[in-house]
Amino acid sequence: MMAASPPFAVAAFLIAFFLSKIAAAQFPQNSTGTSNLHLPTPYQSLCASLIHPSGYPCSEHKIQTRDGYFLGLQRVSSSNVDLRAQPGPPVLLQHGLFMAGDAWFLNSPEQSLGFILADEGFDVWVGNVRGTRWSQGHISLSEEDKEYWDWSWQELALYDLSEMINHIYSITNSKVFIVGHSQGTIMSLAALTQPDVAEMVEAAALLCPISYLEHISTQFVIRMVDVHLDQMILAMGIHQLNFRSDWGINLLNSICDGHVDCNDLLTSITGKNCCFNNSRVDFYLDYEPHPSSAKNFHHLFQMIRKGTFSKYDYGILKNLIEYGQLKPPAFDLSLIPKSLPLLMAYGGNDALADVEDFQHTLKELQSTPQLVYLENYGHVDFIVSTTAKEDLHDQLIGFFRSWGKSSIS
Ligand SMILES: *[C@@H]1O[C@H](CO)[C@@H](O)[C@H](O)[C@H]1NC(C)=O
Ligand SMILES: *[C@@H]1O[C@H](CO)[C@@H](O)[C@H](O)[C@H]1NC(C)=O
Repeated sequence: MMAASPPFAVAAFLIAFFLSKIAAAQFPQNSTGTSNLHLPTPYQSLCASLIHPSGYPCSEHKIQTRDGYFLGLQRVSSSNVDLRAQPGPPVLLQHGLFMAGDAWFLNSPEQSLGFILADEGFDVWVGNVRGTRWSQGHISLSEEDKEYWDWSWQELALYDLSEMINHIYSITNSKVFIVGHSQGTIMSLAALTQPDVAEMVEAAALLCPISYLEHISTQFVIRMVDVHLDQMILAMGIHQLNFRSDWGINLLNSICDGHVDCNDLLTSITGKNCCFNNSRVDFYLDYEPHPSSAKNFHHLFQMIRKGTFSKYDYGILKNLIEYGQLKPPAFDLSLIPKSLPLLMAYGGNDALADVEDFQHTLKELQSTPQLVYLENYGHVDFIVSTTAKEDLHDQLIGFFRSWGKSSIS
């Protein structure tokens, strides 16, 4: 069990969040697990390191956001030459927190959604938010600047995701299907409240949908919110959350070194993941985790504390300057067009996307989403389950096909 002293709790929380999101973290019990993070990571492009080797055509695209960040997008098509001749409708895959576009290609081509969609004839586009390995750089800021990390999921939604959708829409001249996981669903829901974005989207499939976090049930997370870990990190002057940095590695090593059973920790945070392939952990760790910002972390914690789905809260004075009001404006889910088809897939063992919060989201939507409930799925199963195709992907593809009949055979 966790010790209750705050410094330990701080460190334990960091690793817990890291573990919960990297979709991998069933570390060996003997504490050497995190040393994997020291390995040189594949710094080739995402296409070259993960997609070409499996025999799939893949091209790299670079776009620039309104606030000056450079984002990498990958476009993947089928390994089958006949299917390539007639490109299907575009699908954008939007990853979650501490992950990047590689998340959709980490298992075999028969198990991974990115490859499966390509082989089903979709024109697959892979999103990578600012700060991740595949989206680096800014017109004027460097990664060393604290301003470079001055963003939360609000900017990821309104600038990064919106720009990606806009780019794909203008290149393909076709409305875009979206798949989001976890933070990718927060981004999608926020972006879809913007009419100019929604009109470029054909339909969206949201895996582990999150907008409200008020009822997050994990005692562990609740305790960390109570000790104000997010504010502590910012107060320590940490702006980039990078678990591959020296302090991140030291932290992980010290936590997993006999103090905590890291294996149980994953379960206690995300819920039990039914279909995780333990023999692939080292491979997952070549890619995950990716950096995010401390401000993003703080914004997520604000959502848990306040039970709102709102813009970043700067405090009364700066809110007045930024937003012209004392409280940050809420994202109004009822602004998502009723005509926009939604599929929402959620898991019975997902401790991060609570059912009560999910019901709250549903109530605010004008439309009635198609629901997929997977009783034994935990938070990371939605990305790396070895049986995801039968459990989920086949239904997801059927859903997209039913809304894109004209263009998909
Ligand atoms: C601990 O991990 C090391 C390296 O990963 C491995 O060689 C060793 O067999 C493990 N020991 C136990 C007791 O599992
Ligand atoms: C699990 O991963 C290993 C190593 O990559 C692979 O050989 C095996 O087929 C995978 N198991 C399943 C059930 O996919």
